[in-house]
Amino acid sequence: ISLTLTTAALTLAAGTVSANCDPGEVVAKFSHVTGGTTHPKVVAANSLAERVNKEMNGKLCIEVFPNSTLFGDSKELEALLLGDVQLLAPSLSKFGSYSEKYGVFDLPFIFKDMDAAIRFTQSQAGKGLLNEMKDSVGFVGLGYWMSGMKYFSAKKPLIVPSDAEGMKFRVQTSDVAKKMISAMGASPQAMSFSEVYGALQTGVVDGQENTWSNIYTKKFYEVQDSVTETNHQLLAYLFMTSSEFLEGLDDDVRAQFVQIADEVTQAANLSVKAAEAANRENILKAGGKINVLTPAQREEWVSTMKPVWSEFERDIGKQLIESAAKA
Ligand code: LMR
Repeated sequence: ISLTLTTAALTLAAGTVSANCDPGEVVAKFSHVTGGTTHPKVVAANSLAERVNKEMNGKLCIEVFPNSTLFGDSKELEALLLGDVQLLAPSLSKFGSYSEKYGVFDLPFIFKDMDAAIRFTQSQAGKGLLNEMKDSVGFVGLGYWMSGMKYFSAKKPLIVPSDAEGMKFRVQTSDVAKKMISAMGASPQAMSFSEVYGALQTGVVDGQENTWSNIYTKKFYEVQDSVTETNHQLLAYLFMTSSEFLEGLDDDVRAQFVQIADEVTQAANLSVKAAEAANRENILKAGGKINVLTPAQREEWVSTMKPVWSEFERDIGKQLIESAAKA
């Protein structure tokens, strides 16, 4: 029995090392939940792997697992702590059980656009948040990757917030998102990203909120009436690793990796707007419908959702909210 087990364990270990990684190289697994070829996170993660695997050949090797194939939303942070994965880029809306502060990124209408969000991440307050969970949990932020602004989709057209009354919306595990949906007179249901398409298709939920890139690459438009250009929230990622992994690298390997990680982050944030615009077009080309709001209709969304800010002043901190809003 013990021989069989050992062989099975060896096979399993060998199976996790891709053909691109040579014996002796440190292997870093990068797990994420998005898919397709045009998604900003897919592009950034693949570009990181390409650069590291070429420029650091023999020293470090990155294997990317997209589409929740290695770990989904509910397991990936725990897996990082256990050392079963070394690199992640979860949405900033998914850290509620580790830190309340990231809720600032979720406040509806706090950022006018992605440029405002990038300005905030580059401010002292934003940079400070990058390693907010380092001492307490051992999560190390390598950079913020922008994904896009968010839009609502639903089984019927949503033109003003009251159109959503009584409907059920999938949200990420974010208290801010839950309150925001309740403010619309609808009910929030937290759910892993990998389950959203099926839940929309079977009517477990009636709608969801996401970026053009997620709505296109996960084909949500196929199982929804239309998408409304609300621009109500930001979706951004914490590109991250664990202290244990980073500190375990040799000094020169760590320095080169961090340098490449920085450059990939900057390049990713420069190309994200174009990726979003292209995926908006892709939705239309594929037959999806987009509702564009008049300024008066948009104002209704703002006045319905913005009051939730005050409920998070204590958890997030008034000063942090003010710095983000100022950006
Ligand atoms: C979601 O769960 O809707 C997103 O955070 C998925 C992602 O990583 O873009």
